[in-house]
Amino acid sequence: MKGRLVLPLLALGGCSGAQAPLDAWGVQAERIAALSHVLFWGGGLIFLITMGALVLAIAAPAHWRQRMGTRSFAIAAGIVFPVVTLTALLAHALGVSRAIMRPMSDAPMRVEIVGRQFWWEVRYPDLGEGALTANALHLPVGREVELHLTSGDVIHSVWIPNLHGKMDMIPGRVNRQRLRADRTGVLRGQCTEFCGLQHTLMAFDVVVQEPAEFEAWVARQRAPVPAPETAAQRRGMQVFGEAGCGACHAVRGTEWKARIAPDLSRVGSRLTLAAGALANRHSNLAGWIAAPQDIKPGNAMPAYARALEGADLLAVTDWLESLR
Ligand code: CUA
Repeated sequence: MKGRLVLPLLALGGCSGAQAPLDAWGVQAERIAALSHVLFWGGGLIFLITMGALVLAIAAPAHWRQRMGTRSFAIAAGIVFPVVTLTALLAHALGVSRAIMRPMSDAPMRVEIVGRQFWWEVRYPDLGEGALTANALHLPVGREVELHLTSGDVIHSVWIPNLHGKMDMIPGRVNRQRLRADRTGVLRGQCTEFCGLQHTLMAFDVVVQEPAEFEAWVARQRAPVPAPETAAQRRGMQVFGEAGCGACHAVRGTEWKARIAPDLSRVGSRLTLAAGALANRHSNLAGWIAAPQDIKPGNAMPAYARALEGADLLAVTDWLESLR
């Protein structure tokens, strides 16, 4: 019984929840989902008709089979029907692609996303300096945004299935995608262009918030990080500097401003670490700093297991976790 349930359940796995194209949270995804239904049910119907014709061709009475063997039947079923059906589908699909690119407002909020091996830099140029984050896309519900997509190295592609289709991120070029999330909650986006060894582990959280909540989040991103409160946090901040983390990472309000690696200003408040690879927990963060090459081999973060004493590793973890 259980075995019989597994397959249909697997097939339904793409129908709802985060990262499910058929569970539309915005108008663009709704149109894409509707097109998928047309293709699925239309294709299913044609398959059934074809199989029916096959059965008739084998088992029907002789005068039926004779009629199916005529030249005009072959032309109608083999040429006219596919040409008409495929042309109609092409026209419908082109209409859908045009509709999902249509702007919904005159002043969408700009969000710049830069794909990098293997993480995402996210900036909000309309919302002032410091309005940026990494590996998380926060969106105000009901507001149209225009994603400006590019890459810092190789070709990546962004896909938030619940909101829109895929869009490539190409070095030296800015591709635009407009979307609007109509429900609050957490979704997942994923890189969909093979970009290197850790392409699979290049995801991000999409957090759709009420406008006031979103504003508060932006204000927090822009503000300098709070001063360390405990002795461990103070030591952690010191270790961060001594270990050279600031050569790649930025932390707002400190001397560390590098853009080579993810901005860590509010890393403690993110849902996941390492571009969706790990849940954001103390143990995972410490493990990531100690041995990132065991978790995501080939990513740019060097391992600190040998460079840091156990106590220092936990201290720097404490401090980063306090950045919320
Ligand atoms: Cu980035 Cu695949």
